[in-house]
Amino acid sequence: MAQQAAEGGQRPAGEEQEEVIIVGAGPSGLAAAACLSLRGVPSLVLERDDCVGSLWRNRTYDRVRLHLAKQHCALPHAPHDAAAPTYLPRDDFVRYLEGYASRFGLRVRLRREVREARFDEARGEWVVDAVDLATGKTERYATKHLVAAAGENDEKVVPEVPGLEGFPGKVLHACEYRTAKGMEGKAVLVVGSGNSGMEIAYDLAEAGAVTSIIVRSELHLVTKEIWNLAMTLYGYHLPLWLIDRIVLLMCHVVFGDTSRYGLRRPAIGPFSMKINTPAYPVVDVGTYAKIRTGEIQVLPEMRSVHGNVVEFADGKRRPFDAIVFATGYRSTTKQWLKSDDGLIGEDGMARRSFPEHWKGKNGLYCAGMVRRGLYGSCEDGEFIAEDISSKKKHQTKPDDGHEKKSN
Ligand SMILES: Cc1cc2nc3c(=O)[nH]c(=O)nc-3n(C[C@H](O)[C@H](O)[C@H](O)COP(=O)(O)OP(=O)(O)OC[C@H]3O[C@@H](n4cnc5c(N)ncnc54)[C@H](O)[C@@H]3O)c2cc1C
Ligand SMILES: *[C@@H]1O[C@H](CO)[C@@H](O)[C@H](O)[C@H]1NC(C)=O
Repeated sequence: MAQQAAEGGQRPAGEEQEEVIIVGAGPSGLAAAACLSLRGVPSLVLERDDCVGSLWRNRTYDRVRLHLAKQHCALPHAPHDAAAPTYLPRDDFVRYLEGYASRFGLRVRLRREVREARFDEARGEWVVDAVDLATGKTERYATKHLVAAAGENDEKVVPEVPGLEGFPGKVLHACEYRTAKGMEGKAVLVVGSGNSGMEIAYDLAEAGAVTSIIVRSELHLVTKEIWNLAMTLYGYHLPLWLIDRIVLLMCHVVFGDTSRYGLRRPAIGPFSMKINTPAYPVVDVGTYAKIRTGEIQVLPEMRSVHGNVVEFADGKRRPFDAIVFATGYRSTTKQWLKSDDGLIGEDGMARRSFPEHWKGKNGLYCAGMVRRGLYGSCEDGEFIAEDISSKKKHQTKPDDGHEKKSN
């Protein structure tokens, strides 16, 4: 469904007019586009990579699965197949995202990197510059509605460690790690004990690498079954403190006292933590059992690197063959989104908390920027599409001078 570009305006040559521009073809961008499409609002999605769901396809390790049962991980209006596994493997989820884009006939323009989006007060619309990575040419788009859906995890974060540049072995970030191939028998240090770090440590140990993991901060270890129960209880509107109590009790039965193995729990309960802070509990995939048997060693923070030797906060030193930094990501939205009027905070995430987070001024929206996972992608898609379509319905002015309504 090609939208006809504006006719006879004072529009710069080559500029394309769109009703809605969505930046990013991850789950959030696709959900927003589909929700809009179902309300009869056309949109164009601009995506830097050459596929949809690029984070899932290109920046996750092979063994990753969705942490929540499939009914909690479906995008709007497209439940997962009854035959699909309860916890979807990565490749199934990638296929699901591709199917989603084609099922709703979404218009996705690939290999377009948005470099700047700014609100033009005089024209009362957004001007978006995107580079076509195939040709290097800059394309200009104009739009009434802009949806920032470029993800919370766009850029890897690696801490500065003195001496790291002289480390002779392999250094990777979690987003570059696929499998433990080639690591058998090697001494590997995993830095960071979030979900990625704990799972990559398991993957390495399972493959026969001599694995250590740095656990710097407190963490809540849960099982996926316990976590799904918590999500269900949340759905029944149980108070957070009660969900926390139930989760902790069950965790105690399954794991015992995790602090005996260097995994201290935060004072805040696991579900309150998920709802009220940026932190997320760690869903155990078998790492804990390997920590208990000593197959995976828990180490304190790293202080410096000397050749292949890493020195830790407790003064101990050990040689390693490889280091995997599972030290997180940051959003890059602030780099291209200008004049956002406070919708996005300095950290690149939505500044306001749920459910006030998704709508800015002048037709600006953000999707998937408030750390609510795939569930948040769905919510935001529906909120945004409803807002844009109701605005259009009330806008009874027949013509604003430069937009030609078709079909
Ligand atoms: C290893 C790992 C496991 C995870 N597991 C889960 C899980 O089990 N459950 C869960 O709910 N969440 C999980 N998450 C969180 C996950 O990030 C989100 O659920 C989901 O991918 C967010 O979708 P999104 O569309 O907001 O962001 P993304 O998937 O990151 O998509 C953003 C898209 O925007 C594109 N983009 C960025 N900048 C630009 C630009 N300037 N111009 C054009 N395009 C751009 C990117 O290429 C990308 O395709 C996991 C994350 C990681 C890293
Ligand atoms: C992502 O994966 C696709 C499909 O396999 C591939 O064509 C593309 O080059 C990858 N992109 C990056 C940035 O690695």
